[in-house]
Amino acid sequence: MEKTKLLYEGKAKKIWETANKDFLISEFKDSLTAFNGEKKSEEEGKGALNNAISAALFEYLESKGIPSHYVKMIDKDNMLHKRAEVILIEVIVRNIATGSLSRNLGIEDGTVLPFTLVEFDYKNDALGDPKLNDQHALILELVKSTDELDYIRYMARKINKFLQEFYSELDLKLVDFKLEFGRDSNDNIILIDELSPDNFRLWDAKTNEKMDKDRFRQGLGGLKEAYEEVLNRIQNRGQ
Ligand SMILES: Nc1ncnc2c1ncn2[C@@H]1O[C@H](COP(=O)(O)OP(=O)(O)O)[C@@H](O)[C@H]1O
Ligand SMILES: [Mg+2]
Repeated sequence: MEKTKLLYEGKAKKIWETANKDFLISEFKDSLTAFNGEKKSEEEGKGALNNAISAALFEYLESKGIPSHYVKMIDKDNMLHKRAEVILIEVIVRNIATGSLSRNLGIEDGTVLPFTLVEFDYKNDALGDPKLNDQHALILELVKSTDELDYIRYMARKINKFLQEFYSELDLKLVDFKLEFGRDSNDNIILIDELSPDNFRLWDAKTNEKMDKDRFRQGLGGLKEAYEEVLNRIQNRGQ
């Protein structure tokens, strides 16, 4: 399937329409942004790494019965997927405290949480992606009911369990991550967007070295090498 018209250009991807209205193509960009777009950079080849990592993770989750928008990887930068109506909630799943959770609640960086925390942020750059509770989400009509929020939390926990298993085999700790969900043409809630180290915090299980976008946020360097290492471990999984 070929690209017809640019639908949207975001911070990390261009979203293209295709001749079939139910399918879109995500073109993964090399641009990097952090702190709500305040810090920006480019890293050649980053888009292709995120595309390949996302494709592998969508395929793995599909094998576990998780419904998603994923269809296939078209080439190194492009992924074919179903069109969805985006639910404007960033679903944050946390296993270990770091980043804003540590800062906001004074929990020491690296503390293993007593249970997996699932939080919602409003996906709205102009407002700086504020935290949402269930009542906020209903007032903003981001979902139809509390049941839908419960379903999203249930799916997020299930995905977390599968991804924790996946990464532990690769000697990586899944610290936290962001998911997006949308509605497909049958009004089913499905997993959408990308599954990449731009949106996941991964620490090496032995050294605790950061293998994700924190390398860019914190100016540590070696971002591309870290993403390449994640992809290598995924590709060599089970060998
Ligand atoms: N299956 C889908 N259908 C429609 N929109 C999607 C789908 N998957 C992801 N999107 C949306 O496309 C955009 C992806 O581009 P990205 O660069 O990540 O944007 P942003 O800067 O908004 O995060 C996001 O707004 C995301 O919500
Ligand atoms: Mg995005």
